[in-house]
Amino acid sequence: EKQGFRHFMLKEIYEQPGVVRNCLEAYLDDNWNPADVTQSPINLGISPELYADLEQIQILACGTSWHAGLVGKYLLEQLAGIPTMVQYASEFRYAPAPLTANTLTIGVTQSGETADTLAALEMEKRRRFGQLPKYEPRLLGITNRPESSLGQLVNQIIDTHAGIEIGVAATKTFVTQLMAFYGLALDLAWRRQTLTATRMEEILVGLRQLPAQIELILESQERYIEELAHSFAETHDFIFLGRGINFPIALEGALKLKEISYIHAEGYPAGEMKHGPIALLDAKVPVVAIAMPGTVYEKVLSNAQEAKARDARLIGVTPMNEHEAAETFDDLLPVPVVEELLSPILTVIPLQLLAYHIAARRGLDVDQPRNLAKSVTVE
Ligand code: F6R
Repeated sequence: EKQGFRHFMLKEIYEQPGVVRNCLEAYLDDNWNPADVTQSPINLGISPELYADLEQIQILACGTSWHAGLVGKYLLEQLAGIPTMVQYASEFRYAPAPLTANTLTIGVTQSGETADTLAALEMEKRRRFGQLPKYEPRLLGITNRPESSLGQLVNQIIDTHAGIEIGVAATKTFVTQLMAFYGLALDLAWRRQTLTATRMEEILVGLRQLPAQIELILESQERYIEELAHSFAETHDFIFLGRGINFPIALEGALKLKEISYIHAEGYPAGEMKHGPIALLDAKVPVVAIAMPGTVYEKVLSNAQEAKARDARLIGVTPMNEHEAAETFDDLLPVPVVEELLSPILTVIPLQLLAYHIAARRGLDVDQPRNLAKSVTVE
């Protein structure tokens, strides 16, 4: 069943080029004609009522799915121009935001069975039901299990097509949740005419290159990361830094590491370091920084240098063939250069491998970490 892999998690990490391809096939319309503004390049089958006069989006999720939601917020705001908030379902259900008009609520849950996410969506549906039309519930689910309880609850589903995930740590379901958000944000952007045809084509070309680029990372990095993992035998704390669209990936890298290796790890927006966490740094705390070309590249590099000045060992998720980054970091996890908006799909891959190899090296039960269950069906 593991097809020669030592753990399901590693097998599922290697399935990522394939599942991203599944999403491209399902979501992108090959017959798209850029000259026809009435035709979206994205084929999610979402009914016009869900999209009509949309003023706001709220995303509800837990754990890794919440991280996907944070990337989703970035895409929905930057590509489609729709104000978006992301809330932990476990918080939202006890302190819902005031009702806003023409609001799309998106529940993100790979299993479709997470109790808090279902309860938050149920509450939202109940309190909006019977209100004025502009407040009526519009619920969209992003899930890997369309037949789940989530599927019964929402108006519509985006299926993430990742196939069953066995490892408790979410990997392939996370990257496909990101793919669903690319699809959704581009579909909305096209319908709202916030992107030109040229820009849309650029992004679509970039999306189609992702599977081969993930393959390249897996082929070129795994051995190195396995070696690198040896150096953290005595490490008790890790810091992960990112900014902008890669801030959620810093959170995700930290979550993957802590849940399977039991090493304390914190993800932080790089610009917030100096407001407290920098006090934690010394030679014993490695810092992983995601520094990809784009709006915050120089900023992250300078945040990383501040960490280096505190003797931290610096590991960089950096663009391939970039010399500026090479000088800053002690260890490099290079990924192909892509446009910033697409980079999270690539930057998360070396972080999954890093977490995996550190945990496997410690001889831990990677697929079934202590105290965790694959789906959290109780509150
Ligand atoms: C982390 C992880 C959990 C889940 C969370 C939500 O690797 O797997 O944080 O992401 O329990 O699960 P779903 O997406 O099934 O709602």
